Amino acid sequence: MNPTREAVSALRNARSVAVLTGSGVSAESGVPTFRDAQTGLWENYDPMDLATPEAFARNPELVWEWYEWRRKLIGEAKPNPAHEALSELEKRVPDFTLITQNVDGLHREAGSENVLELHGNIHRTVCSKERTTIEPENFIEGTPPKCPNCGAFLRPDVVWFGETLPVGVMEAASEAARNCEIFISAGTSSVVYPAASLPYEAMESGSLVIEINPDDTPLTAVADIVLRGSAGEILPALSSSGE
Ligand code: APR
Repeated sequence: MNPTREAVSALRNARSVAVLTGSGVSAESGVPTFRDAQTGLWENYDPMDLATPEAFARNPELVWEWYEWRRKLIGEAKPNPAHEALSELEKRVPDFTLITQNVDGLHREAGSENVLELHGNIHRTVCSKERTTIEPENFIEGTPPKCPNCGAFLRPDVVWFGETLPVGVMEAASEAARNCEIFISAGTSSVVYPAASLPYEAMESGSLVIEINPDDTPLTAVADIVLRGSAGEILPALSSSGE
């Protein structure tokens, strides 16, 4: 059977599905994937020198400005057919969990409800010391702005390299991975842990693992079904399988 038909047929009767998405799913909305994001003004910077707590401690102004630039790109982006297809799939699968590494909020904008944001959300800002969420109208202006309660710098509520994931979110994602019949990994390079461990947890619990990516990743060799191509084309083809 061709792999797309095999995936469509598996999804047709599935009662529990978990999906892990990465920046490839937002690429067709015009949000550059993390590793392709170093263009224009930022081409000479390594993301590892911008998305770490050490980078923020060293040069908070630079890191804040990089996130301002990313927020602007994301602000102009709209959900694409991949996001919409996942929101449709949620409506017809009784137990559906969407786990995302993306911080752009586009899954919720497309109507997805049960979303676990493993790496936080770029639209939220927190105090770098107290981790409380601060609304823009309360920022003490500056680059970066400061916390109105304690005066510490504010930062985006995203997970940087070397930081731990938000409490409970990874646990909920693992549980979804271990309990699903079908696990779909879409648009992720499958190299950043702990998110990259989720398809393996699913596999060990007997789930069927489907990968959607135009390129090979470390998961490709072990996935049950590999669908080569863009998420914006493949996911709509899968999610309409119930009609
Ligand atoms: N459809 C599907 N996949 C795509 C598309 C597309 N249109 N375009 C690119 N891809 C794939 C690439 O082949 C690559 O495997 O998306 C993947 C993007 O990989 P990364 O840039 O590494 O993004 P991601 O896997 O989300 O990174 C994980 O690492 O940098 C940190 O916190 C950041 O959440 C991010 C995490």
